Amino acid sequence: MASLWGTVVLLCGVVALSGAQQKKSNVPRLKLSYKEMLESNNLVTFEGQVNSSAYHTFLLDEEKGRLVVGAKDHIFSFNLVNISRDMAQIPWPASTSRRDECKWAGKDLMDSVFRLESQIENGRGKSPYDPKLLTASILIDGELYSGTSADFMGRDFAIFRTLGQHHPIRTEQHDSRWLNDPRFVSVHLIPESDNQEDDKIYLFFRENAMDGEHAGKATQARIGQLCKNDFGGHRSLVNKWTTFLKARLVCSVPGLNGIDTHFDELQDVFLMSSKDPKNPIIYAVFTTSSNIFKGSAVCLYSMADIRRVFLGPYAHRDGPNYQWVPFQGRVPYPRPGTCPSKTFGGFDSTKDLPDDVITFARGHPAMFNPVYPINNRPIIVKTDTDYQFTQIVVDRVEAEDGQYDVMFIGTDMGTVLKVVSIPRGSWHDLEEILLEEMTVFREQAAITVMKLSTKQQQLYLGSEMGVSQMPLHRCEVYGKACAECCLARDPYCAWDGTECSRYFPMAKRRTRRQDIRNGDPLTQCSDLQHQDNLNGQPTVLDKTVYGVENSSTFLECSAKSQRALTYWQYQQANDDRRRDIKTEDRFVCTEQGLLIRTLDKKDSGMYVCQAVEHGFMQTLLKVTLEVIDTERLDDLIHRDDEDAAHTATTHTTARDTPTARESPNQKLWYRDFLSLVNHPTLNSVDEFCEQVWKRERKQRRQKANLSQQVQLHQLHQQQQQQGLVHAHTHVHAHGLAAKWKHLQERQKGRNRRTHELERAPRSV
Ligand SMILES: *[C@@H]1O[C@H](CO)[C@@H](O)[C@H](O)[C@H]1NC(C)=O
Ligand SMILES: *[C@@H]1O[C@H](CO)[C@@H](O)[C@H](O)[C@H]1NC(C)=O
Ligand SMILES: *[C@@H]1O[C@H](CO)[C@@H](O)[C@H](O)[C@H]1NC(C)=O
Ligand SMILES: *[C@@H]1O[C@H](CO)[C@@H](O)[C@H](O)[C@H]1NC(C)=O
Repeated sequence: MASLWGTVVLLCGVVALSGAQQKKSNVPRLKLSYKEMLESNNLVTFEGQVNSSAYHTFLLDEEKGRLVVGAKDHIFSFNLVNISRDMAQIPWPASTSRRDECKWAGKDLMDSVFRLESQIENGRGKSPYDPKLLTASILIDGELYSGTSADFMGRDFAIFRTLGQHHPIRTEQHDSRWLNDPRFVSVHLIPESDNQEDDKIYLFFRENAMDGEHAGKATQARIGQLCKNDFGGHRSLVNKWTTFLKARLVCSVPGLNGIDTHFDELQDVFLMSSKDPKNPIIYAVFTTSSNIFKGSAVCLYSMADIRRVFLGPYAHRDGPNYQWVPFQGRVPYPRPGTCPSKTFGGFDSTKDLPDDVITFARGHPAMFNPVYPINNRPIIVKTDTDYQFTQIVVDRVEAEDGQYDVMFIGTDMGTVLKVVSIPRGSWHDLEEILLEEMTVFREQAAITVMKLSTKQQQLYLGSEMGVSQMPLHRCEVYGKACAECCLARDPYCAWDGTECSRYFPMAKRRTRRQDIRNGDPLTQCSDLQHQDNLNGQPTVLDKTVYGVENSSTFLECSAKSQRALTYWQYQQANDDRRRDIKTEDRFVCTEQGLLIRTLDKKDSGMYVCQAVEHGFMQTLLKVTLEVIDTERLDDLIHRDDEDAAHTATTHTTARDTPTARESPNQKLWYRDFLSLVNHPTLNSVDEFCEQVWKRERKQRRQKANLSQQVQLHQLHQQQQQQGLVHAHTHVHAHGLAAKWKHLQERQKGRNRRTHELERAPRSV
C-alpha cells in the first residue's frame, strides 16, 4: 500500500493532494443535512409551539427518563427515548399583574405526575427579569447558587446564595473590581479535599475587563471561586462573600507578528469528571470579540492550574491611575479565599475572620496571573467558518485501544460538530478529528443548550424554536465495509464482522475491529485484498457513459468521506494496464469528478475512480466511456429525421401537420439534440443517450429478444439493426421530447457546476 501511496503523488490531483491534505483534516468526515438526519432516522424534533419559544433551560432526569424544558410561558416534559412520544406541558404564562416579573422556579417538579407545586418563590436573586440575560445556577443541598442580575434594569449583577436555612448572601455591590457587567455561563461544585468543609463553588463567566486592566473596553473570560461554607463577615462584608476570588481564563493562539489571537467570549463550559472528583477536566468554548474576525476555540483547563493561580499573587493597584501589579506585601492570615476548615484554616466560620483578612479580601477579589489552558493552546480552533461555537458537551468513550473524549459542539447555525481528539504521540500532542457535522434544526437557530444522556446514548438540543434529539453515533452511516468503519475512527463504532456497529467494550467478540489511534484498516480488515468485492457484495459501481467526439464530458465521482481524496486511472479495452490520469489540457480532476475536454475517439475505455484516505485506497467507481464520432451522430440524426417524417405521416392521422418535420414538438427535440451535440458541456448527452439506449435495450429484449448490443457505433456498422433503433427512437419521439426537457431541467444545476469547474479548475 505504501508503494501505491507513492504512485498517488504522481497523479492527476498531485497538487490537490498535497495542498488539500491539511485542509482535508479539518473538514468533517461526514456532513449530514437536516433532511438527511431526518430521513436516516437520526433526528427527532419538536418544532416548538405557536404560543411558546426559547427552549433554553434543560433538566435531564435519567431516572424517570424525562427531559424537562423551560421555555416561554411553558414547562415541557419529554420522553428521553423519543421526544415526540408522550410530551406533557404546563402552560405557565405570566399573569397580567406580574408580567413585568419573570418567574423561573419549579426546580423540584419531578413527580410521576407532572405538575407545579403550589409554593411560589420570589425569583429575585435567582433568575433575571429578562430571560435574554445569561444566568447560571446550581441547587446544592437545598441552597441555590446563582450568578444573575437582581434588578429590573439588569444592572445589578451578583452571585447569590438563596433558599435553604441561611440568610441570603451575595457579592459586594457597586464594585466593578468584583464583577463588571458579567454574563454567567455555568456554576459547579468541585471538592478541594476529602473534607467537605473545603468544598468550593466555581463560577464561569465573561465580563468587561477591570478598569486599567486592558486598554479600551474588552471582554475577559473568568473563573470565580467561593467557599460553600462562606456565611459572610461579622463587622464588614456582612451577608457578602468573604472568599470570592476570580481569575482570567486565557484561550489564545500565537499569531503572525507575535500578536496572539485571543478568544475571550466564553460561551460554555463542560466539566468532564474523572475518577478523582477533585480534578475534573474543564472544557471551555470561546469565540472572538471581533465583529470582523469570526473565530471559535475549545480550550482545556486543569484544576491543578486553576488552584495554582488562586494560590498565586493577588492583583493589586494603589489607585485609579496606577497599573495592576502582583501584590508584593504581606498577605493576612488566613489567606483570603481559604475555606474555614480543619484542613487549612484552623478557624470555624468566615464570621470569625480577622478584620484585616476581610479588608484585604474586599479590595483584592482578582488574581494577578491568568489561567492558561493545558498545553498552552486550544485543542480546537475554527477561524474560516461562517458559524461560531455556542455549546459543548463531552462523552468519555471506551474504545478498543483506550479512552477517548468525544466532544459535541453546538453552533449558532443549528449544527452540531462531533469531534474526537486523539493523542498523536503523547497527550501533549493531540490530533483533532472532526467526525461529523450535522444539522439538527430546520432553521439556522443558535443551539443554546445541550444535554447528553449516556444511558440513552442520546443528545438533546435546544434553541429559540424547538428541541431536537439525536443519537450519539450512527455507525451504519460510515459505510458497508470494514475499512470504511475503521477509517472513520469513531470510538463509538467498530466493525463487528458484518457491519459497522456500536462498540461495546464488555462484549468479547473476536471479530470486532477498531483502531481509533491510527485508523489503519490494513491491520484491522482482512478483506482488503478483495476490496472490489467487499463482504461478498459488490460495492464498486459500474456504469457506461456516452460522449460525443470533440465535446466534453464529466465523470462524477466523489467519496462519501469528505476527507478522502479521489484520483482516476484509465484502462483501454484489450489492455490490462491501468494508466494514471494526470491533470493536463484535456483532463481536469476535481473534487466532484473528472472533466474531459474535447473528447477524442481514443478516449474510449474504462475510467476507474479511486479514493485515498489515511493511506488507504478504495475503488469507488468504474466508468466505461464510449466516444461516438460526430459523423456517425450526424448520420444518425439525419436518419432519425427521415424515419420520423415517415412514421409521423403513417401514425398521425387526425393532425393538421402533414409531416413530423413541421411538428413543433419534434422540431424542438431535434434542435435541442443538435445544439447539445455542438455544445461543449455534454454530460447531459451522456445521460440522455444512456436513457434512450437503455430503453432500447429493454424493449428490444422484451419484444424481439434480440440480445445484441445496441451501442451506437455498432448500430451504425450494422445497417439492419440501425434501422430498428431509429424506428424506436422515432416512436418515442414525443415522449422523449418531454423527457428531454425534464432532463435538461435536471441537468441545469450540474451543468452550472461543470462550467464553474471549467473556469476555475481547483486541482491545478
Ligand atoms: C419517534 O416517535 C415518532 C412518533 O411516534 C416516530 O414517528 C419516530 O419514528 C420515532 N423516532 C425514532 C428515532 O424512534
Ligand atoms: C399553547 O398552545 C397549546 C396547543 O397548541 C395549548 O395546548 C396550550 O394550552 C397553549 N398554552 C397557552 C398558555 O395558551
Ligand atoms: C474535431 O476536432 C478536430 C481537431 O480540432 C478537427 O480536425 C475535426 O474537424 C473536429 N470534428 C468535428 C466534427 O468538428
Ligand atoms: C432469447 O430467446 C432465446 C431462445 O428463445 C433464449 O435462449 C434467450 O435467453 C433469450 N434472450 C433474452 C435476452 O431473453
